[in-house]
Amino acid sequence: LKRAFLIGKGISNSLSPIIQNAAFRKMGIDATYELEDLNRRSLKSFISSLKLTDTIGFNVTSPFKEEIMRYLTTIDSRSENIGAVNTVKISNGGRMAGLNTDYDGIVSTLRTLGSLRGSAKQRKAIILGAGGAARASVYVLLKNGYSKLTIMNRTVAKAKELSNQFESSFHNSNINVVPLTKTEFVKSVQDSGLIINAISGSNSKFYPLKLDFSGAATETAIFDLGYKEDSLFLKTARKNGLKTVNGLLMLVTQAAKSFEIWTGRKAPFKLMMSTAKRETRCSV
Ligand SMILES: NC(=O)c1ccc[n+]([C@@H]2O[C@H](COP(=O)([O-])OP(=O)(O)OC[C@H]3O[C@@H](n4cnc5c(N)ncnc54)[C@H](OP(=O)(O)O)[C@@H]3O)[C@@H](O)[C@H]2O)c1
Repeated sequence: LKRAFLIGKGISNSLSPIIQNAAFRKMGIDATYELEDLNRRSLKSFISSLKLTDTIGFNVTSPFKEEIMRYLTTIDSRSENIGAVNTVKISNGGRMAGLNTDYDGIVSTLRTLGSLRGSAKQRKAIILGAGGAARASVYVLLKNGYSKLTIMNRTVAKAKELSNQFESSFHNSNINVVPLTKTEFVKSVQDSGLIINAISGSNSKFYPLKLDFSGAATETAIFDLGYKEDSLFLKTARKNGLKTVNGLLMLVTQAAKSFEIWTGRKAPFKLMMSTAKRETRCSV
């Protein structure tokens, strides 16, 4: 029996075990996927206690996506550029390779929104948040032809650090950083083609920003990375007639890519998606 995990803090509601275990069963792979809810300080001891012969790999979520990079044998260039790893493959001899499949999840979601087509990329994109998921989103956008971005975050210094890092690796980029306020939101929305919400807790009615999409052009696309239920963010955007998508496709795409990395087999994507949809109260 082989094992895979998700490591993170406060992950008891994660859908990943249900999705991955369904995939293992469907493909006749003798493996299980379990949750490892860790304290901030227990990452190192967890890594050294791993039974490397049993474990095929693991996923990593908040708050360990950056810290995990210290313990890995190799890190691919995509993860290096993003500054975060969400998938680790363990191969014979205990080599640990770090990869980032959130990238794939974001790309496939932006494709369904039509946001990776030529004309869409000419417009500005807004990213709300400056954590790991925002970082991956910024990288996807710059790598796929966007050059004008606005990052809005509660902690402006964190967004500034992110923008400086990416502006120095993407020379033609222009990344504006503004505080997370209604005034700034209303101003930025007017000339943007895409808004990505990577603030945690976007399902809450206590969403930290008073939302006003009324100035957005009708073709503006909205992507909320949350997936547990229909968020206030998406509901408000839809009321303004905007095209919206939640984070379910991203979740399932990153899970399917991780499965393929660990097993070398094609993931049963449809089954993984229908399993995930059954467990949530919203659809893509
Ligand atoms: N669909 C998927 O597959 C997928 C994958 C990854 C992540 N996600 C989702 O994306 C979201 C972000 O994840 P992450 O890994 O980037 O988390 P993270 O690194 O912890 O970043 C959290 C972000 O949310 C902001 N934030 C949190 N609480 C806030 C509040 N009360 N008011 C204002 N801002 C607040 C933080 O601002 P500060 O910098 O000011 O603290 C930061 O920008 C989560 O909801 C996560 O579930 C979805």
